[in-house]
Amino acid sequence: MDILVHLPEAAETAEWLSSLTRALPHADIRAWQPGDTAPADYALVWRPPHELFAERAGLKAVFNLAAGVDALLAIERNAPGTLPPDVPVIRLEDTGMADQMAEYAAYAVLRYLRRFDEYELAQRRSDPCWRPLAAHARETFTVGVLGLGVLGAHVAKTLASLGLPVRGYSRSRKSLEGIETFAGHDEFDAFLDGVKVLVNLLPSTPETDGILNRSTFAKLARGAYLINLARGAHLVEADLLDALGEGRIAAATLDVFAQEPLPPDHRFWREPRVTITPHVSAVTLREPAVAQIAEKIAALERGERVTGVVNRARGY
Ligand code: NAP
Ligand code: GLV
Repeated sequence: MDILVHLPEAAETAEWLSSLTRALPHADIRAWQPGDTAPADYALVWRPPHELFAERAGLKAVFNLAAGVDALLAIERNAPGTLPPDVPVIRLEDTGMADQMAEYAAYAVLRYLRRFDEYELAQRRSDPCWRPLAAHARETFTVGVLGLGVLGAHVAKTLASLGLPVRGYSRSRKSLEGIETFAGHDEFDAFLDGVKVLVNLLPSTPETDGILNRSTFAKLARGAYLINLARGAHLVEADLLDALGEGRIAAATLDVFAQEPLPPDHRFWREPRVTITPHVSAVTLREPAVAQIAEKIAALERGERVTGVVNRARGY
């Protein structure tokens, strides 16, 4: 069995190759090099160049080394016909990311609930004010989680376990204990109405890109908080800056950006109410990811179905 691997960071490739060799000792595993068009059974990739798929014979499946497949599916738009339509694209399902997301979201939500962001701002301004601020009322600090998939559902349940009122929004109807759920476009406004913290965990698709915009912000509780953990393409950045200026949004925590790394001259760096992290809310953990992929390859080789197969028409 031939396995092709591509990671954008060459430094990581050697470690992935050794983990994969341990998990799949009978496979021939190689890192893709430009010009390599030799047949392969499986490709394991993160943000691959489209050349990796050109003239590639024999592919049985492509494994995306992350949860979100937007970068991989962009190949279909940028180089139509290179990613064969009949080859399944399989994404990572959790592999340790759900706990990381829950930690990040809980930290960000509690920081706003207890107004620690405001104490941080005062200290940064060298303002030695010993001024206790009343915390927001927990009962009305409603958190709305966009996306109730592998990550969003775990985040919603974790936040609910902290005693916060939690709502969730998905395409298809969900039933999650302790979470008020909303489904589909027709219920979007009802979902947003009165939400104090909006946490985004949607996939980036033609339907969801730009969903964090002026009109969405206007339907939240006044002075709401935004936490974007999914993709930069979801956010209309100018609308967020306007909403911060108007006080409609009180503060935002952003892990993902339209352009990454976020350019040094971007206005977000100078906006004190925007907290920035460099796309780290849930990183791919190599060993659990390799274990999941190895199990799925074994299942596919036995002719069994696997989960995590992306619906390419839907985009996730
Ligand atoms: P998932 O399991 O596929 O869940 C996606 C959720 O979004 C599902 O509940 C889905 O609804 C919902 N959804 C999709 N399109 C929708 C629409 N048009 N309207 C309403 N709901 C919609 O994905 P996941 O594993 O939870 O990951 C979510 C995203 O997180 C990834 O795509 C990735 O972009 C992002 N992510 C970011 C990081 C980071 O470090 N920042 C790390 C990992 C992942 P249904 O359940 O009805 O299908
Ligand atoms: C990271 O952004 C992922 O999609 O796993």
